[in-house]
Order: sequence, then C-alpha cells, then structure tokens
Amino acid sequence: MTKPDVAQMDCRSRVIVVTDVAYRLSDFLAYVENNYALTLASSRQEVLADSDLRSAVAVVFTEQPNDMDARRFCEAIDPRWKERPKVIAAGPRKSPWLTFVKGQTSVDGVIHADAPSEQQIRTFGVLVSLRAEAALAELGPRAATIWKESAKVLKTIEVLVEAGQPIPRAAVHTLAESVVEGTDDALLCDMMRILRDHHAETVVHSLDVAMNMLLLGRHVGVRSKADQHLLFEAGIMHDIGKMEIPSAILRMPGRLTADEFAVMREHPVSAVRMLRDSGGYDEHVIWAAAHHHEKIDGSGYPYGLEGARISEIGRLAAVCDVFCALTERRSYKPSTPPEKAFEIMQSMGPGQLDATLLERMMEMIYGSLPQQRIAI
Ligand SMILES: [Fe+2]
Ligand SMILES: [Fe+2]
Repeated sequence: MTKPDVAQMDCRSRVIVVTDVAYRLSDFLAYVENNYALTLASSRQEVLADSDLRSAVAVVFTEQPNDMDARRFCEAIDPRWKERPKVIAAGPRKSPWLTFVKGQTSVDGVIHADAPSEQQIRTFGVLVSLRAEAALAELGPRAATIWKESAKVLKTIEVLVEAGQPIPRAAVHTLAESVVEGTDDALLCDMMRILRDHHAETVVHSLDVAMNMLLLGRHVGVRSKADQHLLFEAGIMHDIGKMEIPSAILRMPGRLTADEFAVMREHPVSAVRMLRDSGGYDEHVIWAAAHHHEKIDGSGYPYGLEGARISEIGRLAAVCDVFCALTERRSYKPSTPPEKAFEIMQSMGPGQLDATLLERMMEMIYGSLPQQRIAI
C-alpha cells in the first residue's frame, strides 16, 4: 500500500500579494495570512522573478506599486502554463484602472477593494476553487471523476431529501467501490490537500470525511474491500441529516442559540431515519451517522452514549469529522493547519475523542514519530 504523502498534506497553498499598503485590503490580507502561506511582494518584478511562482495558487495585485505595465505583468504569468496561479486584480469597483485590467484576458478575476471584506474573501475563495478544480483534473482522470461523481451523488441526495424520497444505496455504493478499487492512498491525500481550498462546502466535507475514514480504516488494518466500501459510504452519508436543517442555522457564523443548537443536534437522528427509510444501507453506515457526535465521556449528542456503547465506526467517524471540520475552510472561518488541528483535538481531553484512534490518525498524517514531523 502506498504511504500517504505527508509533505504534501502539511503544506499550505501559497498566495503572493503585491500591493501598496494604502489599499483597503487589511482584513482580506489577514484572512490570506491565516489560511495560506502568504508572500508579500514589494513590486511586480519581484513576483515574476519568484522561482516558485507557478506553484502559487493565486497572485493578487493592485494598482500600486506600478513598477511595470499591468498588461505585461498579467501576460507574463502565462495562461498556457500547465500549472498557473490565478491572477487577481484588486481595486475600487469603478476605478478606470480596474476596468482596464478586467479587460485583459490573462486576468482571472477581480476583488473590489471597496467591498466588505467578507465579499472579498468569498470572491477569492471562488477563484481559488476554480484552480482547485483544475488542480484536481491535473491529478488525472480518476481524481476528476471522483470529484464529479461525489458532487453528483450529493446533489442527487439533496434533491431526493427535499422531495422526501428514499435515497437509493446503489449510487453511493458505486462511488465507494470506484474509490476503493481505483485509488491508492497517495492520490486520496493529494485530493484532500486540494479540496481544502475548494468552497463547495457540503461536497468537500462529505468527501473529505469519506476519504479520511477510508485512509484511517486502512491504516488501522481494515483489509477487506467490502469493509473499506462501508467506511467510504459512511463518510459520504454521515451528515445527510443536515440536509433537513434550515440553511440559516447551518451557515450561522457565530454561536448558535439553545433553540438552534437543539435543531442542529437532531441531524444524526434524521440521518438514521433517512437511511432506514431508504432501505439497503449497512448497519455500520447507519451507526456512523448516528454516533459521529457522541463523546467517550457521554457528553456528546444525540444519545449521550458512553465509551464502548459508541460503535467503533462512530468513534472513527468522530475523529475524522473533527479533523476535517477544523482543516477545511468555511465561508465563516479560516482553515486550521493539520498540526494545530491535532493540538486542538488533543486538548479536548481523553473524554471526548477515542484516544487510540486519534493517535493512529496523527501517526497516519505525520508518517511516524513526532520528531519527524514536517513543520507547517
Ligand atoms: Fe455531523
Ligand atoms: Fe460532519
């Protein structure tokens, strides 16, 4: 079995920003700094001289400093490169400069410096996601197919849930089969690294949890293909109960009120009902959906189960779910680097997550011993 590519998993994507500090982008810059490896360049020439320019996910530039012609600068980041950062211009919405730059074919998008910072961040996220799609395609037809199929399966599920229809197991099972049979761990790790920058949150989260459950399952010795299918299926389906929760609650950036949290806590119960009503799902898939928010000390939800009363697959799902939720970028929060995510998970104490599975997951992500960890 191929080992996960640890170095790839721990590296944050790089973003180069060349700007005059006078631009109103401070919140946006703070966001980029929190989520990406940020390089602040002092001139456009400096950007073009950067030997790792092609590996950056985005180059953001503003009107100033203007040490070389904007059109020439954009064209120098050649659209024909196989891997190419997104070229993003930032400036006030109606400025003649931004209008001119927007017309250049080599500019991938613009950020309005006079728009609220949340909007700037959202625009940036969409543009980087487009590159994420391209990067997935670069990994080869398997990765592109898994992404497309997962998005299709989850969209179909959403439509069925909305219509109150059963969710046929066949589609999820076919997806699980194709992932288990056709991908090695290295490809899954590469995909997870890229997906972190994608903004399609539901698909990313379900697929991310599914791939992590499969990888962790393989890592702790799940050898049978049938069991590996179940792990992946369980990951894809673990949060389907959320499809019944109003999006205003799901996307709430701050703390939920007691009433809202009560609604949120119901999603594992909803998932169990939806899976049972649909028929054909293995009990393990149902347990993962039922138990992924349970805590070892009984403080979790919805059932408040303790220790061994929580299914093994539920405990495995919980570890992967927390790790994915922390490391994924959301519209309301930055992503957390893997090392920091593990720090948080460890600080949750032994009463929360399964300590052995957490250890094994860290071992899987880091490769081996703590002193060999790769700095982020
Ligand atoms: Fe959940
Ligand atoms: Fe989840």
